[in-house]
Amino acid sequence: MALTEERVLEALRTVMDPELGKDLVSLGMVDEVRVEGGRVDLLVNLTTPACPLKGQIEADIRRALAPLGAEEVRVRFGGGVRPPERYALPGVKHVVAVASGKGGVGKSTVAANLALALSREGAKVGLLDADLYGPSQAKMFGLEGMRLKVDQDRRILPLEAHGIKVLSIANIVPPGQALAWRGPILHGTLKQFLQDVNWGELDYLVVDLPPGTGDVQLSLSQLTQVSGGVIVTTPQEVALIDAERAADMFRKLQVPVLGVLENMSAFLCPHCGKPTPIFGEGGGRRLAERLKTRFLGEIPLTLALRESGDRGVPVLAQDPEGLEAQAFLKAARELAAALSVQTFLPLPMA
Ligand SMILES: Nc1ncnc2c1ncn2[C@@H]1O[C@H](COP(=O)(O)OP(=O)(O)O)[C@@H](O)[C@H]1O
Ligand SMILES: [Mg+2]
Ligand SMILES: [Zn+2]
Repeated sequence: MALTEERVLEALRTVMDPELGKDLVSLGMVDEVRVEGGRVDLLVNLTTPACPLKGQIEADIRRALAPLGAEEVRVRFGGGVRPPERYALPGVKHVVAVASGKGGVGKSTVAANLALALSREGAKVGLLDADLYGPSQAKMFGLEGMRLKVDQDRRILPLEAHGIKVLSIANIVPPGQALAWRGPILHGTLKQFLQDVNWGELDYLVVDLPPGTGDVQLSLSQLTQVSGGVIVTTPQEVALIDAERAADMFRKLQVPVLGVLENMSAFLCPHCGKPTPIFGEGGGRRLAERLKTRFLGEIPLTLALRESGDRGVPVLAQDPEGLEAQAFLKAARELAAALSVQTFLPLPMA
């Protein structure tokens, strides 16, 4: 039988997206099929360029096409994040909130590096520092002392560093100036930060929330459609109680929990690489099980991570091939997958 585009499509109907549980053709992911002589050219658009299953899907495609006897199969994966039915904000496909029950667990560090990891996978990413009392993203991205500008429509233009659009109150209020805002002002500022900003086109806007379960969290969910929340925790038992509170908050605000990310997992010795589980082991995974959500992975406790924050170059930009970067990339892919499942296969909330 001749090798034709129809036969290729037919074969692709047997290849499933393992997360979405449907075949690539029904999911509208097969964008282009070309057959020339013995050669097959495919363009497949996944729901996110950060799909963790790219490798598996490509292998499945090759297996499905093997019986057709093509001499060569070329699989290309197409760009962008598939647009949801409703954008979170004009030009912004998804708002992803990063939360923790308490401060100091590395939420800002995680938010910054997740943003970078998503961007490295090919997504357009912004980072909103919503920790209005204790902003840290200007410092993390080396943007301290820089002032925000406005466009011709008087909309705020976020700053940009390492390919990420960053918006932080620290670039408006001089550093060290204490903020003693009450709820309504806080709400107004956050509103401006969400609605009067020229973000351009973004796939993901990562929001670094303040610790705890207060006003900012409530305002954020009132002011925009938050696609999902990530809970950052450290492995020890006491931290998990706080993390559970953060999960409760998301539930009350009807924000789907995308998963749990464990930070400061094992300490990695900078000399020999030996891991030492200073804060215990497996806490994040257990929490994810208890919350019936995805475990997004673990980020080690390393000297490089601690130093990078102070230096103003996130570790993923500083050492893109390092262990920390690999851990963040893996977590970002899990996050992107969770978000795709949430968006295109809505499950009833637990
Ligand atoms: N995985 C990690 N390894 C080493 N240091 C970390 C790690 N995560 C965070 N830190 C450090 O811990 C401190 C608190 O982190 P931060 O991200 O500001 O926490 P939060 O936003 O939750 O208050 C910072 O000095 C940061 O550099
Ligand atoms: Mg912080
Ligand atoms: Zn050692």
